[in-house]
Amino acid sequence: MSETPRDWWKSAVVYQVYPRSFADGDGDGVGDIPGIRAHVDHLAWLGVDVVWLSPVYRSPMDDNGYDISDYHDVDPLFGTLDDLDGLIADLHERGIRLVMDLVVNHTSSSHAWFQESRSGRDSAKRDWYWWRPPREGHVGGEPGAEPTNWGSAFSGPAWTYDPDSGEYYLHLFAPSQPDLNWENPEVREAVYSMMRWWLDRGVDGFRMDVINMISKAGLEDGELGGPGGPIDTTTHGDPGPFVLNGPRVHEFLQEMHREVFADRPAGLLTVGETPATSVEEARRYTDPERREVDMVFQFEHVDLDSGPGGKWDVVPMSLLDLKASLGRWQEGLADVGWNSLYLGNHDQPRSVSRFGDDSPEYRAASAKALATVLHLHRGTPYVYQGDEIGMANAPLATVDDLRDIESVNAHRALLARGATGEEAMAAIRAKSRDHARTPMQWDADEHAGFTTGTPWLPANPDHVEVNVAAQREDPDSVLHHYRALIALRHDEPVVAHGDFTMLLPDHPQVYAFTRRLDDVVLLVVANLSSQPATARFDPTWDDAEPLLATTAHPTAGTWSLTPWETAVLIRR
Ligand code: GLC
Repeated sequence: MSETPRDWWKSAVVYQVYPRSFADGDGDGVGDIPGIRAHVDHLAWLGVDVVWLSPVYRSPMDDNGYDISDYHDVDPLFGTLDDLDGLIADLHERGIRLVMDLVVNHTSSSHAWFQESRSGRDSAKRDWYWWRPPREGHVGGEPGAEPTNWGSAFSGPAWTYDPDSGEYYLHLFAPSQPDLNWENPEVREAVYSMMRWWLDRGVDGFRMDVINMISKAGLEDGELGGPGGPIDTTTHGDPGPFVLNGPRVHEFLQEMHREVFADRPAGLLTVGETPATSVEEARRYTDPERREVDMVFQFEHVDLDSGPGGKWDVVPMSLLDLKASLGRWQEGLADVGWNSLYLGNHDQPRSVSRFGDDSPEYRAASAKALATVLHLHRGTPYVYQGDEIGMANAPLATVDDLRDIESVNAHRALLARGATGEEAMAAIRAKSRDHARTPMQWDADEHAGFTTGTPWLPANPDHVEVNVAAQREDPDSVLHHYRALIALRHDEPVVAHGDFTMLLPDHPQVYAFTRRLDDVVLLVVANLSSQPATARFDPTWDDAEPLLATTAHPTAGTWSLTPWETAVLIRR
């Protein structure tokens, strides 16, 4: 076998499995590892190189596993460590790597570390978390006595009072997700040692949850009334400037690299989830010379439909803004650094509903067009489970249809702020994470072939039409298109390594760009709208070789494109 290049992941495609919703092996209505093992051939057929597995560790599941109570075990809901070893072996046999989710900005409040930490002010692990006395002149437990005014990402204050010790602890997410104190070297060593344990077990790297929040700049009041992302800044201060990309984050990641990855052979993957991070900061995280992480997940393009009031202040997604944003990231990381390419994941609404057109008429065409544009950018594409068949948002009619802690709490907070029930639901219907978490649609059977029991979240009723089994039979399907795109990245070095030039940045319907590597040039043209479009390109493209079932044909440089039509041409 030839040696694995250090940057092997540039020509790789990652597939994200959200285990709760992928496939249920034991009929309890919740997806599990045996369920995933029953479908590894789907992943192999698709041709993906890496699976990123959302958390399967032991957890009270307040945030569906992003609240870990034991990093060294699998939650019984998902199976056993043996099942996981089996999954790793199944994937490796098919040449697919497995990347675990690493959630170390916080643990669950049920983790033994936190239990010990909260046992008293003189506990040996007290300093493993952020404990602080009530604000000067205030009595603990009373509103306003929190050490800072910060809001949490899941509504309410970011501090919870512990009456036994008379102090507050910090949680940037739910109260059951206390933040670890990375200033303490013992915490860092415990995390690195856990990571080595997993690598020794055979996993191939980590997707690092909110890793740019591990260094805190100071505990001071945040701004009220600003955008604040998911924070309700009408009632709480924005912790952002104090907790995002903090002063020691690069030092910690470099230390992690030395302690965990430096002495291991190539073939591992490290990807940092980094909300509210600029291109310049992303270059620092991913400059290979700095030895931090291989690539980041940035959020700029998935924040474009947030208004001045933050995540739940929903505004239309504009194609011009999307092009400007993604284009800026292509430029900013052109020479140094690397980006992850994604339109959806377990925290985002379905991409075809948000960026495409999920009406019966254009769902398939728009899902294909979005995939074409995304996969042919420079960066590593991530396929979120179900995107490969164009899965759409769930109906989510009323508050009873919500399961996600963020949506449930946001609904309550929006009502408290004065929204009507319908206004609150409208915002949540646009952005809820539950959309991404409905069962994977395997076939047209009851519950979409996800479970023989009652699913924890109902399958989208559209599964009778939109499912893997039907699309496998149809060579013109979204699924076959994804497979062809993945193969193209493997086969054409220009896709993985070529440079990127945006064309027609001001065209309101057409997304177009070229990629170039030496003498090979790829032209990608996509009408990302539900109306016909025309565009002009250099007429020398008229006779270029079409790829990926391209049918659009220019005449003397003029292109007429049907709604969501794409064209990919190559010149050698
Ligand atoms: C990340 C995860 C999200 C989780 C949060 C807290 O953003 O992707 O699902 O709720 O971190 O761990």
